[in-house]
Amino acid sequence: MARTIETAGVVGLGTMGSGIAEVLARSGIRVIGVEVDAAAVERARGHVEQSTARALTGGKLDEDDRAALLARITYTTSLTDLADADLVIEAVPESLGLKAEVFAQLDKIVGPDVVLASNTSSLSVTEVGVHTSRPGKVVGMHFFNPAPVLKLVEIVRTVVTEPDVIADVTGFAERLGKTPVVIGDRAGFIANALLFGYLNHAVRMFEQRYATREDLDAAMRLGCGYPMGPLALLDLIGLDTAYEILESMYRQSRNRLHAPAPLLKQMITAGLLGRKSGRGFYTYE
Ligand code: CAA
Repeated sequence: MARTIETAGVVGLGTMGSGIAEVLARSGIRVIGVEVDAAAVERARGHVEQSTARALTGGKLDEDDRAALLARITYTTSLTDLADADLVIEAVPESLGLKAEVFAQLDKIVGPDVVLASNTSSLSVTEVGVHTSRPGKVVGMHFFNPAPVLKLVEIVRTVVTEPDVIADVTGFAERLGKTPVVIGDRAGFIANALLFGYLNHAVRMFEQRYATREDLDAAMRLGCGYPMGPLALLDLIGLDTAYEILESMYRQSRNRLHAPAPLLKQMITAGLLGRKSGRGFYTYE
């Protein structure tokens, strides 16, 4: 029998985690969001409020539904508050050590049949899962930024993920109004494996003064019909996140396409992380 998911935990409420919390709450799921400290909780709350305000302005949500959505999310700094969760989605930064630690702790807190999902973009779900006593119930659930808007969820199946877990998580993604695709545990899964070589190439072109940032972006928007140019998209993803994804994919594939462009590292060191820090390839208000 399929698992009933009414309450879900989301661990890590950065750009992706807070977007995922919003998506779940919007579909009527009670969400317990976990962050490291009170300041991070406030940042996450602000993120969800801002995003739902945008949905309101865009006519995607009305005032009452927005209030109900916000009321479905509770925030905490303690993983132990997830004891009654029916599913947990982890969205902490892309560090295998950190994810392994979170999964090992969650394994001791939630019920034995509860599925633990990782929103990892590029790390191995298998490697995360082995830090639990239930690798068969560990799966990837990879959302795209901005999670409330983009329809895709990649469901990542390891060699030991149980078939009913895949079925339940796929059904859950559909309940969220998303389109799931199922993929094996390969570096970058489907979308990032195809996307990040292109983004990295755009950084190299910019670095070599091949064209201005505006012209590089305009070429892909206006010539290829992409909603955003590659440099604007990197600012949206976050340069630090993009760097981690590229590095992880490069480590796994050794494909030079994914060797991070040096300019990315320099910009990160200088604090230019994209939209979230106010400046990346472009400057934001
Ligand atoms: N809930 C529901 N709808 C929302 C919303 C929310 N919280 N916030 C905004 N929207 C709606 C708006 O109402 C608007 O709807 P209409 O088009 O019907 O008017 C729509 O979403 C777009 O919003 P905006 O008008 O504010 O913005 P836009 O038209 O400039 O589009 C964009 C912005 C959606 C980001 C678009 O440019 C886009 O799709 N860009 C590409 C993003 C992309 O490629 N992401 C993948 C990155 S890779 C990744 O995420 C993987 C990883 O592992 C890092």
